[in-house]
Amino acid sequence: DYPRWPSLARESILNVPMDLRSIRLSIDGKVIDYSGDIDSVIITGMGGSGVVGDIINDLCLFWDCRVPIIVSKNMRLPRRLSRPLVIAISYSGNTAETIMSANEALARGYPVIGITTGGRLSTALSAKGVPVILTPKASAPRYGLPALLYPALIILERFSVVSVTNELESGISGIENALKHVDDAVNLARQLVNSVPVVWVTESRRGVGIRFKNDLNENAKYYSVVSVVPEGAHNDIAAVITKQNGLKHVAIMGPNDYEGRYEEVLIDVISSFGAKPIIVKLEGKMPLELEMYGATYLGITTLALAELLGVEPVSTEPIDRLKNLLN
Ligand code: F6R
Repeated sequence: DYPRWPSLARESILNVPMDLRSIRLSIDGKVIDYSGDIDSVIITGMGGSGVVGDIINDLCLFWDCRVPIIVSKNMRLPRRLSRPLVIAISYSGNTAETIMSANEALARGYPVIGITTGGRLSTALSAKGVPVILTPKASAPRYGLPALLYPALIILERFSVVSVTNELESGISGIENALKHVDDAVNLARQLVNSVPVVWVTESRRGVGIRFKNDLNENAKYYSVVSVVPEGAHNDIAAVITKQNGLKHVAIMGPNDYEGRYEEVLIDVISSFGAKPIIVKLEGKMPLELEMYGATYLGITTLALAELLGVEPVSTEPIDRLKNLLN
């Protein structure tokens, strides 16, 4: 799917309705008006869909988005808010947590927009007149990332949270650039064999770190942890000196801004305690370009790792079993 990501991104935004702001619904006696001002955006979803919220949260740190982004990966909404917009993302449309959160949002009278390829989320929301953006399919939810992320970005623009129009193509450049680095990705995968990767990221690259960890889990069936600094530098870092067998530190670095320099110091310190961190530099200039470079490059790394381990990358049986029992 990765070579299709540029076209998936471009196709997916064609389906975002122009008139989102003029929607007015009445559900169980509650009027939900999409034209009103919002003071936050809740992005709810799980796994490969939920990571869209983490990535947007990263981007909003750079873009200075007008309202806070609240990432929710739960069956409940985080807390009562006054005027949030809720974006419910589920690739399959059949994830119980996301459907429950969308229903809770509607019960509270919040405007909700669904992003999905179909499933029960689409049926349930459409039946109530709630806008649903149907997005193109990929081989599995996580391989459809741009088709979930790009419509969400357009929604943010429609609700005047941030202007994204001039950024979208940079994300596609990030994908295309990463596709030129497959050999490096394979090399990185080789270095991860027989280890538990500890993924170090700064707060502003949390989405890339979480995506890498999730892809290691789901594609390579490989255990991994993410440590987000600065906080991770105030606790996880202390565990480096125990030299636990098998930990492999991977530091994902953005450009050399203050946060980049923070990671450099971190790398020096953990190296002085015997760790041998692998450094992954995100390439690009624009925030979306860097995130998409990271998601693509590290995703390909996990596919290469799956191949090295002789693991089938697409299926995720334990997740499927859990979801079937929850549905
Ligand atoms: C499987 C995958 C999972 C799913 C998660 C939620 O490819 O990526 O992490 O994304 O189970 O399912 P959806 O995305 O269908 O709501």
